[in-house]
Amino acid sequence: MSLKGRDFLTLSDFSADELWHILEKALEVEKNLNNFSGVLAGKFFALIFEKPSTRTRVSFEVAIRQLGGFPLTLNWVELQLGRGETVRDTAKTLERYVHGIIARVNEHKTLLELAKSAEIPVINALSNLYHPCQALADMLTVYKLKGRLKGLKLAWVGDGNNVCHSLLVACSKFGLDVSVATPKGYEPKKEVLEKALEEAKNSGSKIELTNNPEEAVKDADIVYTDTFVSMGKEAEKRKRLKVFLPNFQVTLKLFNHTKKDCVFMHCLPAKRGEEVTSEVIDGPRSVVWFQAENRLHLQRGLLTLIF
Ligand code: CP
Ligand code: NVA
Repeated sequence: MSLKGRDFLTLSDFSADELWHILEKALEVEKNLNNFSGVLAGKFFALIFEKPSTRTRVSFEVAIRQLGGFPLTLNWVELQLGRGETVRDTAKTLERYVHGIIARVNEHKTLLELAKSAEIPVINALSNLYHPCQALADMLTVYKLKGRLKGLKLAWVGDGNNVCHSLLVACSKFGLDVSVATPKGYEPKKEVLEKALEEAKNSGSKIELTNNPEEAVKDADIVYTDTFVSMGKEAEKRKRLKVFLPNFQVTLKLFNHTKKDCVFMHCLPAKRGEEVTSEVIDGPRSVVWFQAENRLHLQRGLLTLIF
């Protein structure tokens, strides 16, 4: 199975077998990093960030260097993009210098335009709609912890945002059940839900939406949350905190309804006292640092296969 030369914009573009292949490659590279230290030799990568990043940026930079490649991290506003050069012209230029583009953008359509314009692969490092590298790394985390994916239940509590979208697609591909609890009006987008439901027909996943967090986390193996105020939504902060708090905060009390060995996951960055209490995120059920570590392992698997 070859993924060479493919864009990586959303998990829906890949079959379950292809996604498993990426997880397996990530595990293989982790076990024998020395065998892979030259796979990106002579290859250059443009990492373009339209918004801030710690984990995604650093894990990609480290992964590329560990595999022998050379990352160029570029801030959107310091490129001519910041002065209005078009995405297309930027893509046509970059493809003459580098072998791949990894981009974090405000609007998902910017990624589509990059991918359409450039002959080289484009990887989504987060858009308003999806965060596929995160969700796939999260599947790696869950697989390492639980030894399987199919039949587990992931409960999402909070905003039906980009991370929620990619997890919905990931879980429906790998056969995990998903229960999403959001306030009314903050549900995942209909188009994403439809994709996940379609996929669930093949994998056997059960997917449900609710406005009741206790109902969502009942018998869950994983409780997952993310900020109530994603990047770009800062102007809505006051309104959002009013809507989400206190009901959608992940607390120890909420964990009473889960399975005994249920773990807490968060893509980070986290706001303690908003979407989660310190007791939970800094407590024994939390796997957030292991999750952050697996971003690096996943990026290495992904880069090895695409390039
Ligand atoms: N989870 C994640 O993507 O973190 P960063 O915004 O720090 O990259
Ligand atoms: N939903 C968050 C994820 C950050 C990694 C955001 O888009 O800001």
